Amino acid sequence: MDAPTVDSTRIAQAAEVLKRGGLVAVPTETVYGLAADASNEAAVRAIFAAKGRPADHPVIVHVADASAIDDWAREVPDSARALAAAFWPGPLTLVLKRSPRALDVVTGGQDTVGLRCPAHPWARALLQAFGGALAAPSANRFGQLSPTTAGHVRAALGEKPAGALDLILDGGACPVGIESTIVDLSGAQPALLRPGSITRFALEQVLGTPVAESGGDAPRAPGRLERHYAPRTPLEVVPVDRLGSRLAALFHLRVAVLAPADVLASLRAQPAVQMSAPEDAVAYARDLYANLHQLDQATADRIVVSAPPTGPEWTAIHDRLQRAQAASRPR
Ligand code: TXA
Ligand code: MG
Repeated sequence: MDAPTVDSTRIAQAAEVLKRGGLVAVPTETVYGLAADASNEAAVRAIFAAKGRPADHPVIVHVADASAIDDWAREVPDSARALAAAFWPGPLTLVLKRSPRALDVVTGGQDTVGLRCPAHPWARALLQAFGGALAAPSANRFGQLSPTTAGHVRAALGEKPAGALDLILDGGACPVGIESTIVDLSGAQPALLRPGSITRFALEQVLGTPVAESGGDAPRAPGRLERHYAPRTPLEVVPVDRLGSRLAALFHLRVAVLAPADVLASLRAQPAVQMSAPEDAVAYARDLYANLHQLDQATADRIVVSAPPTGPEWTAIHDRLQRAQAASRPR
């Protein structure tokens, strides 16, 4: 599937909407973003309202190029410039000490700001046409699955007048498929806040120093439960060697299974719904949310995911599956 070529008329419309303080869904290489003018407090507040997201949760500021780092951050370490040079435009978010330009509504009142320069042609065109920075979380309702197609955004949020968004740009399916790697460079040591397609090892190779594993991108406010990346259907991840016995134990339920084709073929009883999972990590990540959206729509009682292989290129995938499992645990 080729991505639709950038439609400059739609981009110009979207830039006008943003200048008026409106909300635009825009494809990025990771997932669709729900974008607003990062310098317009009311517009950023509208993002939170549309998502149903708690107000103290920071949003990422998307910029056109690395020269914007100094507009949004202060005391920028060399490590930030090295990572931007290596991975921007691309699926990497840098958390840095904020400049006065970064509004409280964007940073969640923290002293840091998350910055990312996206690589997707539609996102780049929109940033160019708009001429400023865009605050954009993923374009889903808070706690639900991230969107990797315009259809996912339409189903979750919709367009006005019935929906929450002023405009949804359709740039096809997102090629990376899982959210950006987030690295915190605001402290003494670089720390990985969220794994993504750019691995910790790749960051360490550029930095020449270890990157600490942090507790994921759980909110920093302690004691708050975050339900993130979850389908509505309870989901469990099962080791491949126990898949058959687990499915046998769930025989009384309507189960939707995501597993590699050879694993599905080896099952003694065929599940009610099955989807074959790609064998390589890049394709698995690209299809992950679309697969979970589809399994979630299968009106199953349970989604069972065959645990993918381990290894650095699978870390971010395991992270998203674990979150989905934790947030959707049968109650
Ligand atoms: O790939 C992505 O990063 C996508 C696309 C749209 O760019 N965006 C995305 O945004 O995933 P969101 O809001 O769904 O997740 C951003 C994460 C949140 O968990 C938030 O806590 C964290 O980034 N974050 C943002 N600013 C931060 C900051 N200053 N300090 C710590 N974490 C921050
Ligand atoms: Mg999100």
